Amino acid sequence: MLVSYRPPIGTNDSPNLQSTEKLTVKSTNSTIFSFTVSRNSDGEKLWDTSLGGLLFADQYIQISTLLSTNQIFGFGENVHKTLMHDLSKYRTWGMFSRDAGPDSVGDITHNYYGVHPFYMGLNPNGKTYGVFILNSNAQEVTLGPAPHLTYRTIGGQLEFFFFPGPTPSEVIAQYQQVIGKPFLPPYWALGFQICRWGYTGVAEIKSVVDRTKAAGIPQDVQFSDIDYMNRYQDFTYNKGSPAWSGLPAFIDNLHKNYGMHFTLIFDPAVEADYDSFKRGISANASFIEWPRMDLVPTGIEDSYPYVKGTKIMLGKVWPSNNAAFPDFLDPQDETQQWWESELKGFVKEVGFDGAWIDMNEPSNFDTQPNNGTKQLKYNVGDLTCPIVGSDSYYDKAPYETVGVFNWGDNTYLFTDTLCMFASTMRNTSVFYNTKNLYGWSEARATMKGMNLARGNRSVVISRSTFASSGQFGGHWLGDNTARWADLQTSIIGAQEFNLFGIPYVGSDICGFNGPTNEELCLRWHQMGAFHSFSRNHNSINQPAQDPAQWPSVAAAARKALLFRYRYLPYLYSLHFLASINGGTVVRPIFFEFPLDPITPTLSHQFLWGSALMIIPVTAAGVTSIQGYLPPDATWYSVYDSYYGTNATTGSTTMYAPTTSLIPLFVRGGYILPRQAPAQTTVFARKNRFEILIAFDPKTLSAAGELYWDDGDSLFTDISSHNYHHFNFNATVSSKSTIIRITKDKSASGISLPALENIEIFGHPWIPALKNATLNGSPVSIDMSQTTYFPFTHVANITTTGLINLNNGQSWILQWP
Ligand code: NOJ
Repeated sequence: MLVSYRPPIGTNDSPNLQSTEKLTVKSTNSTIFSFTVSRNSDGEKLWDTSLGGLLFADQYIQISTLLSTNQIFGFGENVHKTLMHDLSKYRTWGMFSRDAGPDSVGDITHNYYGVHPFYMGLNPNGKTYGVFILNSNAQEVTLGPAPHLTYRTIGGQLEFFFFPGPTPSEVIAQYQQVIGKPFLPPYWALGFQICRWGYTGVAEIKSVVDRTKAAGIPQDVQFSDIDYMNRYQDFTYNKGSPAWSGLPAFIDNLHKNYGMHFTLIFDPAVEADYDSFKRGISANASFIEWPRMDLVPTGIEDSYPYVKGTKIMLGKVWPSNNAAFPDFLDPQDETQQWWESELKGFVKEVGFDGAWIDMNEPSNFDTQPNNGTKQLKYNVGDLTCPIVGSDSYYDKAPYETVGVFNWGDNTYLFTDTLCMFASTMRNTSVFYNTKNLYGWSEARATMKGMNLARGNRSVVISRSTFASSGQFGGHWLGDNTARWADLQTSIIGAQEFNLFGIPYVGSDICGFNGPTNEELCLRWHQMGAFHSFSRNHNSINQPAQDPAQWPSVAAAARKALLFRYRYLPYLYSLHFLASINGGTVVRPIFFEFPLDPITPTLSHQFLWGSALMIIPVTAAGVTSIQGYLPPDATWYSVYDSYYGTNATTGSTTMYAPTTSLIPLFVRGGYILPRQAPAQTTVFARKNRFEILIAFDPKTLSAAGELYWDDGDSLFTDISSHNYHHFNFNATVSSKSTIIRITKDKSASGISLPALENIEIFGHPWIPALKNATLNGSPVSIDMSQTTYFPFTHVANITTTGLINLNNGQSWILQWP
């Protein structure tokens, strides 16, 4: 029975993959079963399992395969020190969700919060493929130099999905056809966000918001961590304390007068003796349970009358040692109904906008082995799970994967979580099978609940994720430490989560654990401004690190974030595209240049879409860095250094003092939609539109697009969604420069600010703007606001009311 478990994540098992590539699967008929998967076009054997055959035993399944390439990316959640795996190291990576702060120092292969059995292989001929293994049990993969891999799981079944690509972007879009496309964040969720654990009350939060605003730093979202709750109980705030009683009024004021939003944390485990829990019991919500009544510890029932007589398995998280874990995989939907109704009530009471779901591996502070000498008695903070006897089948499996070994002696599958033999899904499965889906299922329940509660688009940030979680929210990379090494690995983590279908991702800017320092915090803001989820977050008892703490950090954050805010229409369009077609937002360089042998080795720089190259500074005490610009394209500098110039390609030393933006380059051939920035997106969305045209010097053309909706209404199905879509094209020839804008999809009731600024990189001569026409009629360009630099070939044209995007469907702006 055990081996048949299939994760109920709703995969689309017969996707219509439109690919120019075809794969052929062949199996052997010999006594030792093996199979190959080869690509028809070049005959490459992507998989050849004759290497090690298939081992299929109770609680142990193993398969090995030769690979066609040693350029392998993905598998998670781990901290990888390079984006591309180093197969020479024979490393075994565990995949088993665990509450532990990512360690970026030392030679380690620890497993962390989420589980993503997905990787992508890139052949030197530039063709890529992807493989997804649909399995939610504790598992691991060993990567070796043959090149080969060995995959092991201790339950479930082997179910492989091969994606033919051939481009990296196609692989990801194909993968997302199976697991589901990423949710579309509300526009405000692309703004900058500030959080910390340990705020003393509303007054402190207000002072953070006010000093950020006074420093001119854009901020859209403020968070509160668990401090706001009454005794750490979900769906409560500490009303009785003067420090927190003003929370709803404060949030209301943020909405009305600051144009800001507010996100609250929720932990899945709820205390077993307060109103929300009692309502759950009355609603017949389901909780993770002991498998049999005779196993239920004695001694606890008297204290918790609503637990008495049930099989609910209690653990210890923030609220107390009597925390019950809702079973979000409840097939009867009653758990969902209850969670939704709690969220609804709390949104009504407090008025918050986003949900941050933490501790959902799920984390349980104290779990001990029961070797038979203890009774299965519930002692305070001591949930015991059997490691001997017939009940130990799941909790002491014969092989426990590196998800256990790597964490040292006295570690078990149940360490820091619930017992593996716990019953779930109304007693139709065991926690051993579903633990890795816990965060996934909570995100699904919470996203649905938040959207219903608010009646418009919300955002969920989940710590634990599984393949397909991207449909229900984003992810932050967890409890990093304020070290340069963590800044570096977070750049890799964000790229990997884009591969995993969760593009709304970021790290705790400045570092969570340990005190940060001014320079690290400054550089982290400069980088974090380019992650979709851009949030400064700090642990309790650490010195404050919000950007206004230091004038230098404030200045750098302001500059980086104002740049981000200017390009938010581009970032939002990338998210929009990923939500409708599948894809990535933050993109590894090899995605766009798979034939360039350097690009797979680049870990610490990344792209926004196809067009914006971001090269962060990740070391102390430097004023220049080495970056790589693929020679196959033209790159125009968009940071302070040589703004607008066509940069030298290849591996280049780039000037990057703390007072400048980090090196940023726009790729020739692209048009980026942008908008004059403001301190929140609510205000920025009212500002003028702009476009940046970066001509490809070879073709003297460029193209781009813009997706635009109200940023707030629910996004369920693109065919019924109300949005604008614009295409931009530009060409320059000896006869004329022509900029074409077409609105091929028009939203009703969403008015657009006018397009009033056009910046052009690579316009080869002075534009003859005096003779400009718009749709054939003369148009007057405000020459006092227009510049052209013959040395850099940068033109910048500003004219009030230049193009009214509300009237008409196509515009041709042209000059001779
Ligand atoms: C653990 C989370 O990872 C962290 O971000 C949070 O601050 C603490 N829990 C407290 O809620």
